[in-house]
Amino acid sequence: MINIIVALSGNEKISKLIAKKAKQPYTKLILNKFPDGEIDIRFNKRITNKKIFLVQSFQNTNNLTLNDKIIETLFAIYTAKNLNAKKIYLIAPYFPYFRSDKRFKQGESVGINIMNQLFSVCDKIFCIDPHLHRIKNIKNALENGTNISLDKPIIDYLKSQNIKNPLFVGPDKESLQWVINVASAFNKKPVIALKKRESSRKVKIKLPSKVNAKDKELIIIDDIISTGNTMLENIKELKKYKPKKIYLIGIHGIFAENALEKLKKHGIIVSTNTLVNDADIIDVSDEIVKKIKRYIK
Ligand code: R5P
Repeated sequence: MINIIVALSGNEKISKLIAKKAKQPYTKLILNKFPDGEIDIRFNKRITNKKIFLVQSFQNTNNLTLNDKIIETLFAIYTAKNLNAKKIYLIAPYFPYFRSDKRFKQGESVGINIMNQLFSVCDKIFCIDPHLHRIKNIKNALENGTNISLDKPIIDYLKSQNIKNPLFVGPDKESLQWVINVASAFNKKPVIALKKRESSRKVKIKLPSKVNAKDKELIIIDDIISTGNTMLENIKELKKYKPKKIYLIGIHGIFAENALEKLKKHGIIVSTNTLVNDADIIDVSDEIVKKIKRYIK
């Protein structure tokens, strides 16, 4: 046994699926939280000289914030290093701070640069469709990062839906990279909205002048749904054209501040299982296993 899949606190479900499909031993990292908030972690299997695949989805769950999970993951990585694991791979179905890719205001932190420094000790970081916006290549954000794209499971899901007359929509400019491949699988060109972000909770949306959405199945695809406001503002504009049905697809369903409940009133909400939520019906573990296979040998 030279490989071990280790589930951290973020997404046990996907960790188990990965271990099962990759036919590799599985264990769960033991995490203790002390009354003062400090933590310790423990590997309950020997990891010396083994290749370990830590799986962590950075989201607020199990009474831990995503920042708590960053500390947990760093403790696991540095402990594995200290215990002489042969290789340390991080599978991060959702890796945070990619949206913090520039100094927007003087004196402000650039989150992804800090994450890069902290996590550079990993041999490889497998990220699923990270938010590559101003930085186009993952390696320029996360030097050990590698990207897994989820076009296939999203296309497979939509093909199972008996959709007759779809209109694909990208809710902002950078969503083109995700919506274009899915739309092409249906021989369609997407409509791309323009978004002006005024704050973390307020966006304004402008659609192109002519949108032929009447009686169509609208499929709006974005990488992240956080507060849901990007989707809600798009829906507000698109509903004027009287579509037949609305699908809202978020690769990473963060659904902060009750977003899922707000969105449910407008259509069918679907996300992948990179994060745990009540709409995580598209399973992406096959794509992860395909990518990590050559590192398992
Ligand atoms: C950023 O541009 C991302 O692609 C998403 O559009 C954004 O994170 C969605 O955030 P929210 O749901 O809060 O509007």
